[in-house]
Order: sequence, then structure tokens, then C-alpha cells
Amino acid sequence: INRDSDHSRRHFLKLTGYGTLGMLAGGLWPGLDLLAAAQTPDTDFEPDLDISLSARPDEVAIFPGSSTGVWRYHATVHKGDRARIVEMPRSYLGPIIKVNQGEKIRIRFNNAIPEVSIVHWHGLHVPAIMDGHPRYVIPQGQSYLYEFEVKNRAGTYWYHPHPHGRTGPQVYGGLAGLFLVSDAEEQAVGLPDGEYDVPLVIQDRTFEQDNQLVYLSGNRMERMTGFLGDMIMTNGMPDFTLPVSTGAYRLRLLNGSNSRIYKLAWEDGRPLTVIGTDGGLLEKAVQRRYVFLSPGERLEIWADFSDNPVGYKTSLVSLPFETGGMDGGRMGHGMMMGGRMGQNLLLPNGAAFSVFGVNVTQPVQTTYRLPDKLSEIGPARPRDAVNYQNPRRFYLTMRHMQWTINGRVFQMEEVADDEIVGLDTAEIWEFNNTGGGMMSMPHPIHLHGKQFRVIERAGVFHDGYVDEGWKDTVLLMPGERARVLVNFSDYPGMFLYHCHNLEHEDMGMMRNYYVKA
Ligand code: C2O
Ligand code: CU
Ligand code: CU
Repeated sequence: INRDSDHSRRHFLKLTGYGTLGMLAGGLWPGLDLLAAAQTPDTDFEPDLDISLSARPDEVAIFPGSSTGVWRYHATVHKGDRARIVEMPRSYLGPIIKVNQGEKIRIRFNNAIPEVSIVHWHGLHVPAIMDGHPRYVIPQGQSYLYEFEVKNRAGTYWYHPHPHGRTGPQVYGGLAGLFLVSDAEEQAVGLPDGEYDVPLVIQDRTFEQDNQLVYLSGNRMERMTGFLGDMIMTNGMPDFTLPVSTGAYRLRLLNGSNSRIYKLAWEDGRPLTVIGTDGGLLEKAVQRRYVFLSPGERLEIWADFSDNPVGYKTSLVSLPFETGGMDGGRMGHGMMMGGRMGQNLLLPNGAAFSVFGVNVTQPVQTTYRLPDKLSEIGPARPRDAVNYQNPRRFYLTMRHMQWTINGRVFQMEEVADDEIVGLDTAEIWEFNNTGGGMMSMPHPIHLHGKQFRVIERAGVFHDGYVDEGWKDTVLLMPGERARVLVNFSDYPGMFLYHCHNLEHEDMGMMRNYYVKA
């Protein structure tokens, strides 16, 4: 692996500059006034789980020699089962928080890093004030109180910071963790659990010779493409290998990278058996030769090693992007596309690289069987949308050297007329990544507060997507268009939608939408 250190890069901990955080004036939209009220624990709210979560500087021994300075989430349980908080050993990642649908959760977030921050619960359906909008950032030394009921179905969700202009460096510094929801339907299916249910957070990082993280150089072009690290980390560890026995596993993958997109496949050629996506289990398993996993997305995979002998080794790899039904010319050239689509930073010539290894180390007798039916999802009903005839359209384009959504960039308190939706109405939103030509890039578009269904997709790729289930992030490759069906139910107020390439997001490829009661 190429560790050549580019000395124009700087330690992430030394980065300063707060982007546009000066714009917290507020007033136009309700929310800030509600904040004060929400900051005292509600005496009628009886939490099933009550924890403190602090973000603070820490050191982790990732490599031999110097330990690595990181920012890390730590949890303390005040009430509830301690086993719900699972620490990630030898990692900068925050603890896994495990909850059940219907439970009430209280989390006091303490900010102990030397800049403003706020926590967002990615994929969770929560009130606007609990969603971690950047207008609610708190400085070092202050805390923010979250109280919400878990409405989501079982699935692999996650949490990370969301201060405007600083999400990229804070996530990169180590601030991220998994939030796993279970429910009665999932428990009745009888999927692999315990050591057979494995969370795998995939990220890329670059380290200097003294084992310290390095982030962006400040070079505008690098910010426009997004940060790519030269090492792949799984659960915060480099060269990760998962020891398995000769049984079946539920692997929960999260792409927690800032901007790297993986084209995942098994190295030994077996298909990927996908059982879940962002919003939980599919109705039934689907098979793919490979699947794209873009920043923010999750994928649950059924991996059965019962036919493999002890001593067998394979790995989950990321394939080069040049193959697989791409219309060559438009993706293959252009300065934005060069290194990035080839994913060439790890290995030359666009070769595949390993994400993590799997070693079969132990025989077992009993094993899980893949259920025919995993959950009840039902068909998406596009005709329920109020704008079925005329979807709301969003164009992802470059303007004045900035990525935009419908030509606009993020303004803290701004909502345009065409970004207001009605409470409890279903809509079709159409995202177009078709206007870029040479300057186009993939954009994983994420909606806060809602899970949606992908009802239509058109473009250059025909494989590699899993659109069968619930999603909160949809990847649009250059030249692609996708339609999603969203129901803006339950919670009025201001939420975000944005590109989950964190450098794009920090540069303003993010907007508010407002759910009007
Ligand atoms: Cu992971 Cu605004 O999101
Ligand atoms: Cu989110
Ligand atoms: Cu983007």
C-alpha cells in the first residue's frame, strides 16, 4: 500500500475554519425557540434506555509505535441494560447502540471536542428537533438532550456529527457509530445472532509516518472530488480479517467513508446474497454479482461458509469501476473522473482491492438456514403520491466550481418554495445526475428523517443496485436519474437532504426541506 506522504496535507486535528457557521440567527422557521424547552428532561418521558454520549479527543493504538490521535464517542449508561451499548475494541469508532422498536431513548450528548458539533441519527424517523440539524450545533463544553421513541423497523442505522462545513473532518477524525434497531418481526425470523451477526464499518484513511491521520490539503480540486484515503479500515482496523466458523452469518456493512464508493463482490466468485438495505430487511434475499455501496449506505449480506473447509480464505473486494455495463467514454475520462472512478489510489490499473479478509477457522455442526421470507414490505405504491403526474425534480450540477442541487447551495435557514412539502403526504422526488458531461461525479443523495422506496432508475448502470427495500440514501452515477417515493409522515419542521459525499456536503451540496403541518 502506498503510504507516500504528501507534505501539503495537514493533520486533521489542526484544521481550522468553520465554513458558514455564522448564520445561526434563525427566526424564519420555528425550531430554535423550541430548542430551549427541549433541553430539560421531560418528566413525562420514561426512557427505556438513558445514556450520555460524549465526543472527545482520544488516542488509539492502530499501528505499532505511536498511537493515533482521534475524536471518539464514549457512552455511559444511566438507565437500561448495559449490554445495549457495545464498545468497539481497538477502534476509534463509537459504541454500537442497540435498541428495540417502540422503546423510548434519552441521550445526553456532551461535546468535548474543540469545535462545534451535533449528533445526527442517520436513517431514524425522529422529530426535527431531534434530528441533529446543523442549526442546533453546540460548542465545546455544552450538551444537547435527545429524547425520542424508536419508530423505525429493525435495521442497521448509524450516528455521526452534522455541523455545517465540518461533518467531513469530524467523521474522518473518528466520530461515527452504529445504531441497531430490532423488532418483533425480525426476532421471529430467526436470523444469525450473537457472534454470527457481524457489524462491519468500512472506511478509508490516510496516515502519516508518525501514524497520525491526515485529511484534505485544502486544495479546492481535492475538495470537489472528495477525500480518498489510501488504506481501507474495517471497524477501525487496517488489514482486517474476520475469523469465521463453517456456518452462516449476517454481515451488516456500513460505508462510513467520506467519499469512497465501493463495488463490492466476493473474491471467490460466489454471488452476494443481500438480505437488507438502509431501512432493514428485504422481503426476500436477492443475489448480485456485485453491489455498489456509497457513503452512508448500508447493506446486509447472508454469508454461508458451511461448504468451505477449515483453512479456507476469501475476501470481500472492491472491483474496478471500468467494468460492468458502463458506457466507457463518459465515465472514463475527464479530470473529475480519473483517479476516482478507477479507485486507483490503492492499486494501479484499476485492479480490485481487498476490503476485508475472511478466514474459516473452526468447524460447527448447527447452522442457520436462509429464510424464504425475511420481512413484510409490500409493493411501493407510486400512485399514492400527490404529485404522481409531476414529480418534484432535483438536478445535481456543478456551478461556479461548486456542486449544487437545483443550482443552489446550503443556507442554514433557507427553504425555497419548491422545498416545502405537506405533512402526511406521499410524494415522488426525482434526482437527475444527467447534466454534467465531463464534470459529473457520482452523488449519493440522502434524505433526513425518512425512509423511501426507489421506484424507478434510468442510466448507464443496470446492475449493482439493491432497490428492493427501504432506503434513505440513493446513489446516482453520472448520467443517471432515479425516482423515490417518500411519505412525509408524523413530524413537521425542517429537515435536510444532501449528497453524502461528505466533502460535497460540507461545501454546500445540501438543502433544507420543510414539512408543513
Ligand atoms: Cu448521514 Cu445528513 O447524514
Ligand atoms: Cu441522515
Ligand atoms: Cu456529491
